Amino acid sequence: MTDRPDRAPESTDPPPSTVTIVARANGPLLVDGPVRLTDADGTVTEVDRLFLCRCGHSDAKPRCDGSHKRNGFQAPGVAPTSRSGGQG
Ligand code: FES
Repeated sequence: MTDRPDRAPESTDPPPSTVTIVARANGPLLVDGPVRLTDADGTVTEVDRLFLCRCGHSDAKPRCDGSHKRNGFQAPGVAPTSRSGGQG
């Protein structure tokens, strides 16, 4: 391999895999990874599976802590197809 200053060095990271996100009826978004979650302070956690809160009641955001059940959260098991469902 030759060094070419006009190109970024080749990554040694493994190739990306497909991540599946499933909107669970009346519950969180299931992210089936592996995924890398980076906190605002830079803490990185790598997990195979993650449940993301979409009810807004979790004390462990962005993770679901089961609060959606106590708060009667209702939502279909589909993700919005446009930004009308919220802004990221
Ligand atoms: S979706 Fe489970 S706590 Fe919000």
